[in-house]
Amino acid sequence: MFTPTSLIRPEIAELEAYTPIQPLEVLAERLGLPVERLVKLDANENPYGPPPRVWAALADEQHYHIYPDPGHSRLRAALADYTGQAAETILCGAGADELIDLILRLILRPGEVVLDCPPTFGMYSFDTGVCGGRVVQVARQADFGLDLPAIEAAVERHKARVIFLAAPNNPSGNLLPPAQLERLLALPLLVVVDEAYLEFAGVEQGYAPWVAHHANLAVLRTFSKWAGLAGMRVGYGIFPPWLIEQLWKIKQPYNVSVAGQVAALAALEDRAWLLANVARIVAERERLMPRLAALPYLEPCPSAANFILCRVLERSAHALKQALEAHGILVRYYHTPLLRDYIRISVGTPAQSDALLGVLADV
Ligand SMILES: Cc1ncc(COP(=O)(O)O)c(C=O)c1O
Repeated sequence: MFTPTSLIRPEIAELEAYTPIQPLEVLAERLGLPVERLVKLDANENPYGPPPRVWAALADEQHYHIYPDPGHSRLRAALADYTGQAAETILCGAGADELIDLILRLILRPGEVVLDCPPTFGMYSFDTGVCGGRVVQVARQADFGLDLPAIEAAVERHKARVIFLAAPNNPSGNLLPPAQLERLLALPLLVVVDEAYLEFAGVEQGYAPWVAHHANLAVLRTFSKWAGLAGMRVGYGIFPPWLIEQLWKIKQPYNVSVAGQVAALAALEDRAWLLANVARIVAERERLMPRLAALPYLEPCPSAANFILCRVLERSAHALKQALEAHGILVRYYHTPLLRDYIRISVGTPAQSDALLGVLADV
């Protein structure tokens, strides 16, 4: 007898769903608090939001009834100026998330291996599963640095096709040293460096300029963090010619909405406003770090991003997350073996930090 459920690909049926952050209103209702009382430090969003020029550009736009430019021409030209890379090497997506998925859809054949270096951003392994690939994990070392000999051995053993490396890494906040990337690029696989948090790291253009010199390197970026546009879903990547040519073929034609393109373009035009806020967030990170370290039960990790991973000592990290939540303070907790003793705190405004520190001193 025909059972409709048998139509589902077995690897999808067995796949664990990704746990995204809940929307503010849902959380507020669950906690019985008004939305304005919530201090949202759980998704590395930018508390200052986009610049006035973005609001004005969105209000002025006359073409919401027309499909967006599938080639993102104006945005890519502006990104060429921002990144210093040729517009031909740049492709935009509905967030960096879409680009992670596109890369994997392009490359993976069923059962082929993607190397994942946990703890790291969950979408790399999730999308690998969706695309029918197999994740091989090479855990990071105690300081969250990469285990290069183990990666090299795993590439050879499993004929891995792709490795994703967030730099700074989410959730640990550490950077990827150039000598390590150099060594990884010598391996026979695609290396995707995800620079979602680049602007907070003070490393100029990061690894984007390397793409022109390394045929197996791609760099991902996003407007979600530094540009305060997480809700607009705009990301981009810098790719070598062989890869970008195929990505153009398989992307949905209208993947970045009219609003997304307008907002991202206006954000780049007002980048001075945004970079001033990036500097405020970085300053706040540096103010928050020693205050967290002063708490007897927290051990914050150094961070080059807009969040701080904290090891929770002598008490349950999950219980701490819940205690903060009861006060309307939202931080990230991961139910994974590597991170069960940690919480990740996004860096917000000074007032948000003060609210957080007030509750941390009490719980
Ligand atoms: C390392 C990393 N890459 C990519 C993303 C997703 O970016 P986007 O919002 O552009 O899809 C995130 C979001 O948290 C992230 O932490």
